[in-house]
Amino acid sequence: MDTPLQRADKVLHRINELASISEDENFITRTYGTKKFIEGRSKVQQWMNEAGLLTRVDNIGNIRGIVLSKNTNAKTFVIASHIDTVINAGRFDGPLGVILGLDLLQELIRLNADLPFHIELIGFCDEEGARFHTTYLGSAAVTGSFDTSLLDSKDANGITLEEVIVANGGDVNNLSKDAIAKQEWLGYFEIHIEQGPVLYEKNIPVGVVTSIAGQCRVGMIFNGEAGHAGTVPMHMRKDALACAAEFISETEKYAANNKAIVATVGKVHIINSASNVIPGEVICSLDLRSAEETQLSTAYTAIKKIAEDLCEKRQIVLEWNLIQQTTPVTCDVQMNKLLMESVMDCGYEPVAIVSGAGHDAVPVSKVSPVAMLFVKCFKGISHNPAEDVAVDDIAAAISVSDNFINKLIKLHST
Ligand code: GLV
Ligand code: MN
Ligand code: MN
Repeated sequence: MDTPLQRADKVLHRINELASISEDENFITRTYGTKKFIEGRSKVQQWMNEAGLLTRVDNIGNIRGIVLSKNTNAKTFVIASHIDTVINAGRFDGPLGVILGLDLLQELIRLNADLPFHIELIGFCDEEGARFHTTYLGSAAVTGSFDTSLLDSKDANGITLEEVIVANGGDVNNLSKDAIAKQEWLGYFEIHIEQGPVLYEKNIPVGVVTSIAGQCRVGMIFNGEAGHAGTVPMHMRKDALACAAEFISETEKYAANNKAIVATVGKVHIINSASNVIPGEVICSLDLRSAEETQLSTAYTAIKKIAEDLCEKRQIVLEWNLIQQTTPVTCDVQMNKLLMESVMDCGYEPVAIVSGAGHDAVPVSKVSPVAMLFVKCFKGISHNPAEDVAVDDIAAAISVSDNFINKLIKLHST
């Protein structure tokens, strides 16, 4: 029997192995549906198979492995996180929850645990939305909320989501068949790095998530007029980039003055850019988040007005497309009580955290109670190759999660 630290060491080893599978040889990138994504997913499937899980890849591209209860009518408890990454990612955002989840199942199999519910481990295929700018493709399919209009979305190379699914062997007409029906969900548990500094500052290995911020993702196009950089007088220009730049700066000011929200323009693309051409068209993204629903909608309206007013002033035509919108999510009170007890049983100070980052637990919360355990990460750094988690903290997450699952098994066995 391995100690939690020995198990954590194996989890870390696998995280490093998965991180070595990347679209870029210099840094970690595994975006949805690419060759390297498939290679990474096959590696996870191989580990699931070796552990004795019944595995399959579903139509959208999630990897799923199940351990069945002897009770064929039992509900399903899902443990999951994602295996896709942002561009130039860290090693832990997503894979930690999947690989640690597999370790928990391996332990239950080793103990020959009598399960009152099925446990399905899922490596979601697209939480980050790095390729199609729309998050939660995998968890939306599993929860039956996949929006089929997204099938026409195009990546940077003009390849549609539908083409990616089909090329990887999925059937777009059967996406809904992969959903777990609402009445079959017992609960959902996701282990994830905190991606923020709270646990690091307190030097506590794990924390319990109470709620997850809602978010809006917007795609904007600023349409001005391309022109000669040497001949068009400044007052006659319709410079799309200058307008976008002012928008970015005003948005930052607005968010800085509103403690309940955060706003980010993370993507800017100048069409046909050249040093001697006045930018005629600029494409931008906006990511807006808040844990409070009214604050989120107030900020959304205000920031849209900022963009409209600036465009009017500068004679720029604005295209504003709301791509995705999720409301803030509250984690399940009953599961959180058990999870907090597990944290304390294992000798750690209980810490409750609001997640500013989005997680697959968000779409899942529409069909199931959800709980999340955060693990301390180095200086709270994430979406960055410097992302790091100490092996001792992984061991703490293993002890707490074992304890939590045993509590759930006991609760549902009686
Ligand atoms: C995912 O990491 C997100 O919060 O955007
Ligand atoms: Mn994540
Ligand atoms: Mn992420």
